[in-house]
Amino acid sequence: MGSRLQLLGLCVLSLISLGCITVVSQNEEGTVLIDGRVGIASIDDDFICATLDWWPPEKCDYGTCSWGTASLLNLDINNNILLNAVKAFSPLKLRLGGTLQDKVIYDVGDSNHPCTQFIKNGSQLFSFSQGCLPMPRWDELNRFFKQAGAVIIFGLNALNGRTIASDGSAVGAWNSTNAASLIRYSVNKGYNIYAWELGNELSGNGVGTRVAAAQYASDVIELHSVVQDIYRGFKSKPQIIAPGGFFDGKWYKELVDKTSGSLDIVTHHIYNLGPGVDSHLVEKILNPSYLDGEMNTFSDLKNILDRSATSATAWVGEAGELITVAIIMYLDQLGMASKYGTKTYCRQTLIGGNYGLLDTTTFVPNPDYYSALLWNQLMGRNVLSTNFTGTKKIRAYGHCAKQSEGIVVLLINLDGNTTVNVHLTTETTASKRTWTLNHQHKSPRTRFARIPRGSRQTVGTQSTREEYHLTAKDGDLHSQTMLLNGRILAVNSSGNIPLLEPISVNLVEPIRVAPFSIVFAHIPSIRVPACI
Ligand SMILES: *[C@@H]1O[C@H](CO)[C@@H](O)[C@H](O)[C@H]1NC(C)=O
Ligand SMILES: *[C@@H]1O[C@H](CO)[C@@H](O)[C@H](O)[C@H]1NC(C)=O
Ligand SMILES: *[C@@H]1O[C@H](CO)[C@@H](O)[C@H](O)[C@H]1NC(C)=O
Ligand SMILES: *[C@@H]1O[C@H](CO)[C@@H](O)[C@H](O)[C@H]1NC(C)=O
Ligand SMILES: *[C@@H]1O[C@H](CO)[C@@H](O)[C@H](O)[C@H]1NC(C)=O
Repeated sequence: MGSRLQLLGLCVLSLISLGCITVVSQNEEGTVLIDGRVGIASIDDDFICATLDWWPPEKCDYGTCSWGTASLLNLDINNNILLNAVKAFSPLKLRLGGTLQDKVIYDVGDSNHPCTQFIKNGSQLFSFSQGCLPMPRWDELNRFFKQAGAVIIFGLNALNGRTIASDGSAVGAWNSTNAASLIRYSVNKGYNIYAWELGNELSGNGVGTRVAAAQYASDVIELHSVVQDIYRGFKSKPQIIAPGGFFDGKWYKELVDKTSGSLDIVTHHIYNLGPGVDSHLVEKILNPSYLDGEMNTFSDLKNILDRSATSATAWVGEAGELITVAIIMYLDQLGMASKYGTKTYCRQTLIGGNYGLLDTTTFVPNPDYYSALLWNQLMGRNVLSTNFTGTKKIRAYGHCAKQSEGIVVLLINLDGNTTVNVHLTTETTASKRTWTLNHQHKSPRTRFARIPRGSRQTVGTQSTREEYHLTAKDGDLHSQTMLLNGRILAVNSSGNIPLLEPISVNLVEPIRVAPFSIVFAHIPSIRVPACI
């Protein structure tokens, strides 16, 4: 694919309204090939998920205490932006959990302990004492979840009843009594819990401590039977999820093999970039082979599930990065996870920590919030085989459109200097078609992927596609402000989330992917068998 240096008057580009400035910029051509014959994987309709954690304000790392009052125990659930932000997804999955979930006692009246809050204590596991969830708070949270239309995954206290051995491992069986009381309480109150998840990061070598796979498997079976018992007579029962930890092939295989019939969803966590103190983070993220690094985890887990008798599916239960430029990585991983059969992807966090979708103090959405919302709005269940030919700096993912006709292509440009003109080609049972070329566009002869006959007006509408261009303000990847089609995305003074609206582009034009930009292109007129 040829690359040429061009003197470009930006004022002639209809996509960008930065005024007339002349910049030296490179242009390159590239092609996306999509196989529309069959889907390669499918995701949940509500693929996007975010977490709410337990960390108290005293939790600090590398000199910053980033949690503020974003804990399940003290988050201001009456905040208007928070409500609107969750509502906008209709629905957003929310996973309630994190490190301290395993040390929470539910104050359901059967425990011998007073309901005391987490207290910082360096000599205890995770540097905090045991904590407690008072039922009035649980009631309040559930009122919020219902109002916001959220789908709830609750992480249960998997360390309850175990003791920590001298080698640091947690031994003994999980005591399910307290969890069962919470589940029963929730059922009696009519709270709708989509899934109960057992434990957080206790798999493999664990974080802080670990539990052996065989023991974990019998604890999962125990949770399954507790849930079956409490929800007896219910038409649909909550899903059973585990282990919410870091992927370890041997450990995961043993858990999966031993929980066939009890475990519905296998969760794993992803933090590729480490603790955020690495000064080369931006370079890392912009490196395609670095982004590909996570592929092995996805494909290894897929292999384990494919080869086991289990019918369990995979989710990413928690993933986050400590820096804002990670928006590129976030969307890339949503794309990659989908390709490997991941059904749901939970982002750490909705709010709190350094990496929330919402700002911890103002609740104002961060750039990743809007990326997630756009994904949720556009990317349908079926994942299409999608390959890009041209520069290695373009990442490409294709899905059937969500609640709409046609397909959606997600393109991410990791290059800060080059605009890539992307042409789209679809593989169908009949032949290959290139959609951006005028003459082929005019003579739809193939059996599939055709422009449907219809009224003049329909044909007129079908000759365009809808594009959503996301860029960082002033091209600064560290900016907390993101632009959609050149306009700043922001909540208004009543705390309303802006509508994410596309621009319309003629199909004969290539998709122009500006430097460091992300483009979602929805092409309603491309009808492929996989999306019908
Ligand atoms: C994309 O590449 C993969 C791996 O080479 C191949 O299996 C797949 O068929 C390709 N898909 C398309 C649409 O070209
Ligand atoms: C489990 O915990 C409950 C208190 O919640 C306690 O009464 C019971 O004895 C424990 N069971 C076991 C086997 O230790
Ligand atoms: C911290 O935890 C240790 C071990 O459980 C306990 O002995 C100590 O009293 C605790 N310190 C405080 C200040 O609570
Ligand atoms: C663009 O290219 C120039 C010259 O090669 C280089 O110095 C600069 O770092 C590049 N900018 C980005 C954002 O990649
Ligand atoms: C904010 O946006 C909402 C919907 O987009 C609108 O109804 C409301 O009037 C706006 N509020 C202000 C203060 O502009």
